[in-house]
Amino acid sequence: MKTVITFGTFDVFHVGHVKLLKRAAALGDTLIVGVSTDELNYNKKGRYPVYSEADRMQIVNSMRFVNFCFPEASLEKKSEYITYYGADVLVMGDDWEGKFDMFREICEVVYLPRTPSISTTKLIEVISNT
Ligand code: CTP
Repeated sequence: MKTVITFGTFDVFHVGHVKLLKRAAALGDTLIVGVSTDELNYNKKGRYPVYSEADRMQIVNSMRFVNFCFPEASLEKKSEYITYYGADVLVMGDDWEGKFDMFREICEVVYLPRTPSISTTKLIEVISNT
């Protein structure tokens, strides 16, 4: 049995998120998703996500190919989360290419190509300009 783990904010959930999660799930038997907390986003980007962490977790958890979600409270704890959940594979979008290679010591690391032409940031821009 292979466990896959991935991390993200998944704010203003869109088809790029769906495709990433679906492809991540196809790499193993169980998909676990760390959804970054509101505080973590605030500390990183200086703004809160549009959707609350409870809503973002509920949406991600509703995908039929997601088995389990947990709040990612700290970027520094990735290796702890990987070990704690017994993940065999860490999946990230290729916007993170190379940034997680240090975890190859504890699991397989796979970067998947992003879906072109869609992102939460772009969606927020489009919505706020209409
Ligand atoms: N992702 C993807 N294709 C997209 C957008 C996101 O595969 N078009 C992936 C990211 O690479 C990441 C996961 O979905 O692995 C969660 O991405 P997240 O950062 O929450 O979404 P973005 O749309 O990239 O948000 P932002 O614009 O705020 O960076």
